[in-house]
Amino acid sequence: MIDARVCLLCIIILSSSLTLDAIRSPGRSLNSIKSAVFLSPPFFLSPGSVANKYFFDIPFPRGHIALKSFDAEVVDEAGIPVPLHETYLHHWVVEGYYGSKTSKDPIEASPLEFDFFDYDLVRNSGICKRTLGQYFGLGSETRRTNTWVPDPYGIEVGNPEQIPDGFEFRWLMNVHAIDTRGVDDKNGCTECKCSLYNVTKDEFGRPLRKGYIGGLKCCYDHTQCPVQEGFGGARRKLWLRYKVNWLDWDDTIVPVKIYIFDVTYTASAVDGALPGCKVEYQVEPCDLSDRSNDECIYTKKAKMVIPRGGDIVYGVAHQHSGGIGSALYGQDGRVLCASMPTYGDGKEAGNEKGYIVGMSTCYPKPSSVKVSDGEVLTLVSNYSSSEMHTGVMGLFYILVAETQIEEQVEVFQSLPVSMRDDAA
Ligand SMILES: *[C@@H]1O[C@H](CO)[C@@H](O)[C@H](O)[C@H]1NC(C)=O
Ligand SMILES: *[C@@H]1O[C@H](CO)[C@@H](O)[C@H](O)[C@H]1NC(C)=O
Repeated sequence: MIDARVCLLCIIILSSSLTLDAIRSPGRSLNSIKSAVFLSPPFFLSPGSVANKYFFDIPFPRGHIALKSFDAEVVDEAGIPVPLHETYLHHWVVEGYYGSKTSKDPIEASPLEFDFFDYDLVRNSGICKRTLGQYFGLGSETRRTNTWVPDPYGIEVGNPEQIPDGFEFRWLMNVHAIDTRGVDDKNGCTECKCSLYNVTKDEFGRPLRKGYIGGLKCCYDHTQCPVQEGFGGARRKLWLRYKVNWLDWDDTIVPVKIYIFDVTYTASAVDGALPGCKVEYQVEPCDLSDRSNDECIYTKKAKMVIPRGGDIVYGVAHQHSGGIGSALYGQDGRVLCASMPTYGDGKEAGNEKGYIVGMSTCYPKPSSVKVSDGEVLTLVSNYSSSEMHTGVMGLFYILVAETQIEEQVEVFQSLPVSMRDDAA
């Protein structure tokens, strides 16, 4: 019976695409998908060194468009993908901003210089206030994590009605990479242990708070992790290569909002720390004498309110090495999306042993996973605590459509175009 129904559906799809070509049904954009591959400005790394770069006005599709995917990886001068055990990609993020038409942005600027030029970030829809405003962003898992926004949805950018006079929509990129060729302690370097980097102050010269033993404050641009005596290793010129798929905007595309949840979120000030998202946290090693946790799993949870509801059309988590899964729950405890890491088991780029090389994604059937305005969501992030981990993250990224689509549109839902396997 099910087969017959599926087949009926096939006929509907076939006949509608043959005979109703000119009808602008929702989800069937008359535009064809556009695709382009870009290179970031180059960055340089030698064994043990760190690059944390902020590039402004990066090459990107212009105009009023719907973004459909963003896939990135680190490549060398020959365009060859560089494996994580050589260049660890801690993270990259891409964020929109309004740049003044009369000023040209620097290609690159350090956080110490940000106040000196005229730009206004275009943040995602929430829920972190100062951090995590990006549209896209991943880390070591970037090669095998699907970013495709399913039809009929798209991330709308560059709507001329929203751009302030005298400004234009531009993009900035932050790339944070650590060269671990020949280092003494690969895990320590990638987890940014302050003692290894010999760092006691952050990049603004502020002393680290007591108990801060690892994380982004200790592996800023130009810091150095110790390398084995006598290890050579040339300075390398590297790029983030990224492929963007998009459509020219039209009214058949259903816009989605981007929300990023962070498991370190706190609604109120605790211990002198401001409310909001702290981005990273520490996984304490398990106490093997504690029988209740003989699996050694460190579970962190946070509750956050989603301001506006709608249909969840995509979801994915971000975790670092040691991560063993993450899930987002609704107020009644239903699972909205669970996202699990895939670890590599080889040497080649995209399958590096011991690293998270992909995160599974959620593509709910249209209109099947809904959240309501003001719903309290719970984010859970699990790490293995058989050893300590510093500077880990537990983020969850979802796309929410506030406009409902009709049931029939289901037949037009596209599959991810990515060539990669969606790590299940
Ligand atoms: C660590 O930093 C201190 C002070 O900045 C410096 O005196 C010391 O030589 C450094 N140690 C190493 C191993 O680089
Ligand atoms: C996280 O770990 C807890 C405790 O073992 C388990 O009950 C839960 O299902 C895990 N969640 C995910 C998303 O892996």
